[in-house]
Amino acid sequence: MTILDSPIRRLDVVDLPECLDLAVSRDWARAERQWRMLFEVGEAYGIEDPSGGLAACGILTNLGDGLAAISMVVVAERFGRQGLGQRIMRHTIERAGQRTVLLHASTLGRPMYEKLGFRHVSSATNFFGYFDAAAPLTTKQVDDSPGLRRLDAEVTGSERGALLDVLLREAEQVRIVETGGKVTGYATGTRHENLTHIGPVIAADEPSARALIADIAAAVEGPVRIEIDTRNPDLLEWAEKGGLAPGVVAPCMVFGDRELPGDVARRYAPVLRALG
Ligand SMILES: CC(C)(COP(=O)(O)OP(=O)(O)OC[C@H]1O[C@@H](n2cnc3c(N)ncnc32)[C@H](O)[C@@H]1OP(=O)(O)O)[C@@H](O)C(=O)NCCC(=O)NCCS
Repeated sequence: MTILDSPIRRLDVVDLPECLDLAVSRDWARAERQWRMLFEVGEAYGIEDPSGGLAACGILTNLGDGLAAISMVVVAERFGRQGLGQRIMRHTIERAGQRTVLLHASTLGRPMYEKLGFRHVSSATNFFGYFDAAAPLTTKQVDDSPGLRRLDAEVTGSERGALLDVLLREAEQVRIVETGGKVTGYATGTRHENLTHIGPVIAADEPSARALIADIAAAVEGPVRIEIDTRNPDLLEWAEKGGLAPGVVAPCMVFGDRELPGDVARRYAPVLRALG
């Protein structure tokens, strides 16, 4: 049996170290907390390397009935360009059923996704550093909130309650903006290995997005990371002025001719690139 005939199997959290080893072999950071979250909310798949470890992996996260995200697609370098990436992708797309499938692509991944029928719909710039800027309006810390969940469903067009359960449990900060007694914006700050990740940022307008980001960053010791949608050039400029360095710009791609559901204009930053 060659590697091309090796079956795809569902991975369990016990396979996490092998996923991390595979990711690190491709120069990705050992982002264990992020992988753990994805294993909890998603379905991980892999192809075993006959000589030990994994030859390929990928994670599908179904976000309610309408939307799904694919992430962590990695193929060991020595098995590259033999079709394993496409196999993992076809398998996860099939498992997503009728849902609209989104992903954020790396430079290496993009040609494969285009070949499979993914279309570029937007982009997110990765920012990292020590951030300091004034919040233009007041935000409030909460643990959870029905208003937040309603807003998330409205803006993303999907009932991603299972993801929110994990996200709100894991986040050190959950901040909301209220307008007329209604939640009109929210963002979370979650500590990962050596940084605090800010995202998602969902807001009615840019001042609200700024306030959420500034207030989360103000309560953080150490660097922050955020992936800001490039449709907001003023926000990108503000982030840079506040001390964040722009890095990779990742295209967000959608499978087939679907559009992203919900209200894209109110989505300033994804939960994680892996989750949209
Ligand atoms: C991206 C990645 C998963 C592709 O896996 P793979 O098994 O090599 O991909 P496949 O063999 O299925 O290739 C699929 C197609 O993608 C394109 N492709 C793959 N690698 C490519 C490369 N290095 N340059 C240009 N096109 C490439 C080709 O069109 C290829 O088809 P072809 O070989 O018939 O021309 C792999 O390169 C990888 O793990 N990279 C590091 C991690 C990463 O960036 N993952 C993507 C996260 S979004």
